[in-house]
Amino acid sequence: MAKARASFVCQSCGALAQRWQGRCESCGEWNTMTEEAASSGIAARAVAGAGKGRVFPLESLQGASREAPRIHSGIGELDRVTGGGFVPGSVLLIGGEPGIGKSTLLIQACARLAMLGRRVVYISGEEAVAQVRLRAARLGLSDAPVELAAETSVEDIVATLRKGECPALVVIDSIQTMWTDAAEASPGTVTQVRSSAQALIRYAKTSGACVIMVGHVTKDGQIAGPRVVEHMVDAVVSFEGEGGRQFRILRAVKNRFGPTDEIGVFEMTGLGLSEVANPSALFLAGRDASAPGAAVLAGMEGTRPVLVEVQALVAPTSLGTPRRAVVGWDPARLSMVLAVLEAHGGLRLGQHDVYLNVAGGLRIDEPAADLAAAAALVSSLTGAPLPADGVYFGEIALSGAVRPVSHAGHRLKEAAKLGFQSAVGPPGALEGQEKLSMALKPCGHISALVADIAASGPRRERAPARGQSPAHA
Ligand code: TYD
Ligand code: MG
Repeated sequence: MAKARASFVCQSCGALAQRWQGRCESCGEWNTMTEEAASSGIAARAVAGAGKGRVFPLESLQGASREAPRIHSGIGELDRVTGGGFVPGSVLLIGGEPGIGKSTLLIQACARLAMLGRRVVYISGEEAVAQVRLRAARLGLSDAPVELAAETSVEDIVATLRKGECPALVVIDSIQTMWTDAAEASPGTVTQVRSSAQALIRYAKTSGACVIMVGHVTKDGQIAGPRVVEHMVDAVVSFEGEGGRQFRILRAVKNRFGPTDEIGVFEMTGLGLSEVANPSALFLAGRDASAPGAAVLAGMEGTRPVLVEVQALVAPTSLGTPRRAVVGWDPARLSMVLAVLEAHGGLRLGQHDVYLNVAGGLRIDEPAADLAAAAALVSSLTGAPLPADGVYFGEIALSGAVRPVSHAGHRLKEAAKLGFQSAVGPPGALEGQEKLSMALKPCGHISALVADIAASGPRRERAPARGQSPAHA
């Protein structure tokens, strides 16, 4: 066996280096290299055992699959994100910024499940038992028979869990506080986190319990340190929210047992997290529909239609290089829409700062948002408010054409349900939707959208003195 030799491990991505470096060559992070013993952890033991393996039978893809019944948490939004409930023997990592409500959500899920008569164990490495109790009391969950402990040693935890009936659910809050004897590195390092996670994953697979690990994320949204843990676990969900806002979004990032495009929406109340059954109403609450620069997107999050307001502010710049800032959407996508509006919509935006915001702290990934963003931008530039009861959806091609997107029927139905009267979308997608009591306005090209919005603007808003009428090339 090789002599144990010190090496340096990046605490952000887990890359190894022989000597200390100020910047990790692999992920580019600064000051993340920490000295750890090289022959620690599982890898060294695997090498030591090479050549003495046990022969195991190989199986075919066919054959009786043991489809395990899912464990429903009793929290609908959580079950939606996990793809229909927790899978026995699986490991789920839940990431989120400190204070976002991970512990609250998990203690609520634990209590629900325990009330249904399942064995549930909650291990806190961060808070004392009294603190967890206090939170449960505030949430009115003190009566739930959840088994609690404040522990950080993985060996002790696994030994305790193996005693007695196998738990249905085990919560480890958080993985960063866990440490194991199998690794020589100091607690909190990547090696420790990885080895602890490995031990807990092995426990889940062999026992059939579902293990949920909490992971903290850094400022830029990465699950801190153990990004290596992300590909070891079966599912990764992230818990997001915006400072000062009461609602939280649970989003599947990876899921071996279900789709990854579902979101769950919660609201933080004095009584913990409550489910939001109709997210569209929440995202649209308190909007000022008469102001220019706001368009409602008929979007989709997984299988669920979600209406959300896209806000734009286009203002003359005082800088040499105009500013482009975007919250909740892809900046590259904004640049593309701006370029198409200039090239095919006849707008000149080179002398304007552009700000785009997706209201309510939602993050949109789908290309269907292009048309809503374009409508908001044109509306802000021209000062012409968009119809308060209209929705927009459609992908914009580089040629300026508006391309069809999926689930047009779902989007329109949701809009109609919430009282919207008109929809602007790709011509193909609007066909066959006439039965909805909405005015359908097909828009095949970006130039038609620009002309339409400019023509509808109130005259005083478009007076030349304001210098905001669209500058046609
Ligand atoms: P917590 O679950 O401790 O966050 P995390 O585990 O992700 O760090 O949530 C703490 C925050 O939630 C705290 O700022 C207070 C707030 N909160 C409520 O608003 N209502 C409640 O009922 C509870 C329990 C917490
Ligand atoms: Mg916590």
